[in-house]
Amino acid sequence: MKPTIIVHGGAWNIPDGLVEAHLKGCEAAAEKGYDEFVRGESAVQAVVEAVAVMEDDPVFDAGIGSVLNQSGQVELDAIVMEGGSLMSWAVAALQHMKNPVRIARKVLEDTSVSLFAGDGALRFAVEKGFEPCTEQDLLVGHQLEDYREFLRTGVLRTREFFEGGCDTVGACAADTEGRVASATSTGGIPRKPAGRVGDSPLVGCGAYADDVAGAASATGWGEKIMAVLLAKTAIDALKLHGDPAEACREAVMVMKSRVNGLGGIIMVDSKGTVGYHHNTPRMAFGFIEGRTGSRKIAIGV
Ligand code: GLY
Repeated sequence: MKPTIIVHGGAWNIPDGLVEAHLKGCEAAAEKGYDEFVRGESAVQAVVEAVAVMEDDPVFDAGIGSVLNQSGQVELDAIVMEGGSLMSWAVAALQHMKNPVRIARKVLEDTSVSLFAGDGALRFAVEKGFEPCTEQDLLVGHQLEDYREFLRTGVLRTREFFEGGCDTVGACAADTEGRVASATSTGGIPRKPAGRVGDSPLVGCGAYADDVAGAASATGWGEKIMAVLLAKTAIDALKLHGDPAEACREAVMVMKSRVNGLGGIIMVDSKGTVGYHHNTPRMAFGFIEGRTGSRKIAIGV
Protein backbone atom coordinates (compact mmCIF):
# COMPACT_ATOMS: atom_id res chain seq x y z
CA MET A 1 0.00 0.00 0.00
CA LYS A 2 1.16 3.55 -0.81
CA PRO A 3 0.43 6.60 1.33
CA THR A 4 -2.46 8.99 0.71
CA ILE A 5 -2.84 12.74 1.05
CA ILE A 6 -5.88 14.97 0.57
CA VAL A 7 -5.90 18.78 0.86
CA HIS A 8 -8.52 21.52 0.71
CA GLY A 9 -8.22 25.19 -0.11
CA GLY A 10 -11.50 26.30 1.42
CA ALA A 11 -15.23 25.88 0.89
CA TRP A 12 -16.90 28.99 -0.53
CA ASN A 13 -18.15 30.51 -3.76
CA ILE A 14 -14.74 30.56 -5.46
CA PRO A 15 -15.10 33.06 -8.32
CA ASP A 16 -14.37 31.79 -11.85
CA GLY A 17 -11.33 34.08 -12.03
CA LEU A 18 -9.74 32.39 -8.99
CA VAL A 19 -10.45 28.76 -9.94
CA GLU A 20 -7.14 28.21 -11.73
CA ALA A 21 -5.12 29.67 -8.83
CA HIS A 22 -6.98 27.44 -6.35
CA LEU A 23 -6.39 24.34 -8.46
CA LYS A 24 -2.69 25.14 -8.77
CA GLY A 25 -2.39 25.83 -5.04
CA CYS A 26 -4.11 22.55 -4.10
CA GLU A 27 -1.98 20.58 -6.55
CA ALA A 28 1.26 22.08 -5.23
CA ALA A 29 0.17 21.31 -1.65
CA ALA A 30 -0.87 17.70 -2.37
CA GLU A 31 2.39 17.07 -4.22
CA LYS A 32 4.48 18.57 -1.42
CA GLY A 33 2.73 16.38 1.15
CA TYR A 34 3.17 13.30 -1.02
CA ASP A 35 6.88 14.11 -1.58
CA GLU A 36 7.35 14.16 2.18
CA PHE A 37 6.00 10.60 2.33
CA VAL A 38 8.21 9.50 -0.56
CA ARG A 39 11.20 10.83 1.41
CA GLY A 40 10.12 8.59 4.30
CA GLU A 41 8.60 11.30 6.47
CA SER A 42 5.56 10.83 8.74
CA ALA A 43 1.89 11.65 8.13
CA VAL A 44 2.32 14.60 10.52
CA GLN A 45 5.18 15.99 8.44
CA ALA A 46 3.17 15.46 5.23
CA VAL A 47 0.14 17.46 6.44
CA VAL A 48 2.25 20.24 7.99
CA GLU A 49 4.27 20.82 4.83
CA ALA A 50 1.20 20.55 2.56
CA VAL A 51 -0.58 23.20 4.64
CA ALA A 52 2.55 25.41 4.74
CA VAL A 53 2.51 25.49 0.91
CA MET A 54 -1.00 26.93 1.01
CA GLU A 55 -0.08 29.37 3.82
CA ASP A 56 2.65 30.73 1.53
CA ASP A 57 0.22 31.09 -1.38
CA PRO A 58 -1.55 34.50 -1.22
CA VAL A 59 -4.66 33.12 -2.94
CA PHE A 60 -5.73 31.36 0.28
CA ASP A 61 -6.99 32.83 3.59
CA ALA A 62 -4.13 31.37 5.66
CA GLY A 63 -0.65 32.72 6.37
CA ILE A 64 0.12 35.23 3.60
CA GLY A 65 -3.15 36.48 2.10
CA SER A 66 -5.16 36.16 5.33
CA VAL A 67 -8.13 38.40 6.05
CA LEU A 68 -8.00 41.39 8.38
CA ASN A 69 -9.94 41.67 11.63
CA GLN A 70 -11.96 44.74 12.65
CA SER A 71 -8.81 46.35 14.09
CA GLY A 72 -6.92 45.95 10.82
CA GLN A 73 -4.79 43.05 12.13
CA VAL A 74 -4.10 39.56 10.81
CA GLU A 75 -4.73 36.93 13.51
CA LEU A 76 -4.01 33.31 12.57
CA ASP A 77 -5.25 29.95 13.88
CA ALA A 78 -3.77 26.51 13.12
CA ILE A 79 -3.82 22.94 14.43
CA VAL A 80 -1.97 19.67 13.85
CA MET A 81 -3.33 16.34 15.13
CA GLU A 82 -1.73 12.90 15.21
CA GLY A 83 -3.99 9.86 15.10
CA GLY A 84 -1.81 7.44 17.08
CA SER A 85 -1.45 9.46 20.27
CA LEU A 86 -4.69 11.48 19.84
CA MET A 87 -2.57 14.51 20.68
CA SER A 88 -3.22 17.84 19.02
CA TRP A 89 -1.16 20.99 18.96
CA ALA A 90 -2.45 24.40 18.06
CA VAL A 91 -1.97 28.16 17.99
CA ALA A 92 -4.76 30.74 18.03
CA ALA A 93 -4.99 34.50 17.38
CA LEU A 94 -1.30 34.43 16.50
CA GLN A 95 0.07 37.60 14.93
CA HIS A 96 3.21 38.41 12.92
CA MET A 97 4.01 34.88 11.74
CA LYS A 98 3.81 33.49 8.20
CA ASN A 99 3.47 29.76 8.93
CA PRO A 100 1.29 29.11 12.00
CA VAL A 101 1.05 25.40 11.11
CA ARG A 102 4.81 24.96 11.61
CA ILE A 103 4.56 26.74 14.96
CA ALA A 104 1.67 24.45 15.98
CA ARG A 105 3.91 21.52 15.11
CA LYS A 106 6.61 22.94 17.39
CA VAL A 107 4.08 22.89 20.23
CA LEU A 108 3.93 19.15 19.56
CA GLU A 109 7.67 18.72 19.77
CA ASP A 110 8.56 21.04 22.59
CA THR A 111 5.90 21.36 25.26
CA SER A 112 3.22 19.54 27.17
CA VAL A 113 0.76 22.29 26.22
CA SER A 114 -1.87 21.73 23.51
CA LEU A 115 -2.91 25.26 22.55
CA PHE A 116 -1.07 28.58 22.73
CA ALA A 117 -2.99 31.82 22.03
CA GLY A 118 -2.26 35.49 21.37
CA ASP A 119 0.89 37.09 22.78
CA GLY A 120 1.90 33.82 24.45
CA ALA A 121 1.79 32.05 21.08
CA LEU A 122 3.94 34.76 19.50
CA ARG A 123 6.43 34.61 22.41
CA PHE A 124 6.59 30.81 22.07
CA ALA A 125 7.22 31.07 18.31
CA VAL A 126 10.00 33.62 18.73
CA GLU A 127 11.61 31.50 21.48
CA LYS A 128 11.60 28.55 19.06
CA GLY A 129 13.44 30.59 16.45
CA PHE A 130 10.60 31.62 14.13
CA GLU A 131 11.21 35.01 12.50
CA PRO A 132 8.39 37.54 13.14
CA CYS A 133 7.05 39.42 10.10
CA THR A 134 5.12 42.67 9.71
CA GLU A 135 1.39 42.98 9.04
CA GLN A 136 2.38 44.25 5.60
CA ASP A 137 4.21 40.97 4.82
CA LEU A 138 0.93 39.04 5.31
CA LEU A 139 -1.32 41.41 3.41
CA VAL A 140 -2.52 41.17 -0.15
CA GLY A 141 -4.38 44.03 -1.85
CA HIS A 142 -7.97 42.80 -1.85
CA GLN A 143 -7.97 42.09 1.89
CA LEU A 144 -6.93 45.68 2.58
CA GLU A 145 -9.69 46.91 0.26
CA ASP A 146 -12.22 44.77 2.12
CA TYR A 147 -11.01 46.20 5.45
CA ARG A 148 -11.39 49.76 4.14
CA GLU A 149 -14.93 48.95 3.02
CA PHE A 150 -15.68 47.58 6.51
CA LEU A 151 -14.37 50.82 8.07
CA ARG A 152 -16.66 52.80 5.76
CA THR A 153 -19.80 50.68 6.22
CA GLY A 154 -19.39 48.82 9.54
CA VAL A 155 -21.23 45.82 7.99
CA LEU A 156 -20.13 42.26 8.94
CA ARG A 157 -21.66 40.08 6.15
CA THR A 158 -20.62 36.78 7.79
CA ARG A 159 -23.14 34.50 6.03
CA GLU A 160 -22.51 36.30 2.78
CA PHE A 161 -18.80 35.61 3.14
CA PHE A 162 -19.33 31.87 3.35
CA GLU A 163 -21.80 31.93 0.50
CA GLY A 164 -19.32 34.31 -1.11
CA GLY A 165 -15.70 34.30 0.00
CA CYS A 166 -13.51 32.86 2.75
CA ASP A 167 -11.10 29.95 2.65
CA THR A 168 -9.40 28.02 5.38
CA VAL A 169 -6.85 25.42 4.20
CA GLY A 170 -6.23 21.88 5.45
CA ALA A 171 -4.72 18.46 4.81
CA CYS A 172 -5.23 14.85 5.93
CA ALA A 173 -2.78 12.01 5.36
CA ALA A 174 -2.48 8.26 5.95
CA ASP A 175 0.86 6.47 5.76
CA THR A 176 1.43 2.88 4.61
CA GLU A 177 0.99 1.55 8.17
CA GLY A 178 -2.39 3.24 8.62
CA ARG A 179 -1.07 6.09 10.77
CA VAL A 180 -3.09 9.24 10.11
CA ALA A 181 -2.73 12.97 10.77
CA SER A 182 -4.55 16.17 9.91
CA ALA A 183 -3.76 19.89 9.91
CA THR A 184 -5.84 23.03 9.39
CA SER A 185 -4.83 26.70 9.11
CA THR A 186 -6.79 29.93 8.64
CA GLY A 187 -6.89 33.69 8.84
CA GLY A 188 -10.49 33.22 9.99
CA ILE A 189 -13.58 35.17 8.93
CA PRO A 190 -13.17 38.56 7.25
CA ARG A 191 -14.18 41.43 9.57
CA LYS A 192 -13.98 39.26 12.70
CA PRO A 193 -13.57 41.12 16.01
CA ALA A 194 -10.00 41.16 17.37
CA GLY A 195 -9.41 38.06 19.51
CA ARG A 196 -12.15 35.99 17.83
CA VAL A 197 -10.99 32.39 17.45
CA GLY A 198 -12.86 30.06 15.11
CA ASP A 199 -13.08 26.31 14.74
CA SER A 200 -9.76 25.71 13.00
CA PRO A 201 -7.41 25.41 16.02
CA LEU A 202 -9.96 23.53 18.17
CA VAL A 203 -9.60 19.77 18.35
CA GLY A 204 -12.65 17.96 17.00
CA CYS A 205 -13.88 21.12 15.26
CA GLY A 206 -11.28 22.18 12.66
CA ALA A 207 -9.47 18.83 12.65
CA TYR A 208 -9.51 15.35 14.16
CA ALA A 209 -7.34 12.28 13.65
CA ASP A 210 -7.61 8.78 15.09
CA ASP A 211 -5.65 5.82 13.71
CA VAL A 212 -8.61 3.58 14.57
CA ALA A 213 -10.66 5.30 11.83
CA GLY A 214 -9.09 8.19 9.91
CA ALA A 215 -8.32 11.93 9.82
CA ALA A 216 -10.48 14.93 8.91
CA SER A 217 -10.02 18.67 8.29
CA ALA A 218 -12.90 21.17 8.17
CA THR A 219 -13.50 24.49 6.43
CA GLY A 220 -16.35 26.95 6.62
CA TRP A 221 -18.24 29.06 9.13
CA GLY A 222 -16.35 28.51 12.39
CA GLU A 223 -19.13 29.13 14.90
CA LYS A 224 -21.38 26.61 13.12
CA ILE A 225 -18.57 24.04 12.80
CA MET A 226 -17.87 24.39 16.54
CA ALA A 227 -21.56 23.83 17.37
CA VAL A 228 -21.49 20.33 15.83
CA LEU A 229 -17.76 19.45 16.31
CA LEU A 230 -17.66 18.88 12.57
CA ALA A 231 -14.35 16.99 12.28
CA LYS A 232 -15.13 14.66 15.22
CA THR A 233 -18.69 14.14 13.98
CA ALA A 234 -17.25 13.09 10.62
CA ILE A 235 -14.80 10.65 12.24
CA ASP A 236 -17.59 9.21 14.42
CA ALA A 237 -19.70 8.70 11.28
CA LEU A 238 -16.71 6.99 9.65
CA LYS A 239 -16.41 4.63 12.64
CA LEU A 240 -20.08 3.78 12.18
CA HIS A 241 -20.33 3.41 8.39
CA GLY A 242 -16.74 2.74 7.31
CA ASP A 243 -17.17 4.87 4.18
CA PRO A 244 -15.30 8.24 4.08
CA ALA A 245 -17.53 9.77 1.37
CA GLU A 246 -20.68 8.87 3.33
CA ALA A 247 -19.16 10.05 6.63
CA CYS A 248 -18.32 13.49 5.15
CA ARG A 249 -21.81 13.81 3.67
CA GLU A 250 -23.44 12.91 6.99
CA ALA A 251 -21.31 15.37 9.00
CA VAL A 252 -22.09 18.29 6.67
CA MET A 253 -25.77 17.31 6.75
CA VAL A 254 -25.75 17.40 10.58
CA MET A 255 -24.20 20.89 10.47
CA LYS A 256 -26.77 22.09 7.95
CA SER A 257 -29.81 20.59 9.65
CA ARG A 258 -28.87 21.46 13.26
CA VAL A 259 -27.39 24.96 12.92
CA ASN A 260 -27.87 25.98 9.27
CA GLY A 261 -24.08 25.99 8.83
CA LEU A 262 -22.04 26.36 5.67
CA GLY A 263 -18.78 24.59 5.05
CA GLY A 264 -17.02 21.45 3.98
CA ILE A 265 -14.81 18.61 5.13
CA ILE A 266 -12.10 16.34 3.72
CA MET A 267 -11.09 12.98 5.12
CA VAL A 268 -8.81 9.99 4.69
CA ASP A 269 -9.45 6.69 6.43
CA SER A 270 -6.58 4.66 7.86
CA LYS A 271 -6.71 2.36 4.82
CA GLY A 272 -5.98 5.36 2.59
CA THR A 273 -9.41 6.00 1.04
CA VAL A 274 -10.42 9.66 0.75
CA GLY A 275 -13.76 11.40 1.19
CA TYR A 276 -14.95 14.99 0.84
CA HIS A 277 -18.21 16.94 0.96
CA HIS A 278 -19.38 20.57 1.19
CA ASN A 279 -22.62 22.57 1.11
CA THR A 280 -21.07 25.83 -0.05
CA PRO A 281 -21.24 26.66 -3.77
CA ARG A 282 -17.68 25.40 -4.30
CA MET A 283 -14.76 23.74 -2.47
CA ALA A 284 -11.19 23.43 -3.77
CA PHE A 285 -9.48 20.12 -3.03
CA GLY A 286 -6.90 17.71 -4.33
CA PHE A 287 -5.72 14.21 -3.45
CA ILE A 288 -3.24 11.50 -4.29
CA GLU A 289 -4.72 8.20 -3.12
CA GLY A 290 -2.03 5.54 -2.77
CA ARG A 291 -4.28 2.48 -2.50
CA THR A 292 -6.04 3.02 -5.83
CA GLY A 293 -3.38 5.17 -7.50
CA SER A 294 -6.08 7.75 -8.25
CA ARG A 295 -5.28 11.41 -8.28
CA LYS A 296 -7.64 14.36 -8.55
CA ILE A 297 -7.33 18.13 -8.25
CA ALA A 298 -10.74 19.78 -8.55
CA ILE A 299 -13.16 22.46 -7.54
CA GLY A 300 -16.20 20.59 -6.25
CA VAL A 301 -19.56 22.18 -7.02
N1 GLY B 1 -13.25 28.11 9.53
C1 GLY B 1 -12.53 29.30 9.74
C2 GLY B 1 -13.09 30.16 10.74
O1 GLY B 1 -14.30 30.26 10.90
O2 GLY B 1 -12.33 30.82 11.41
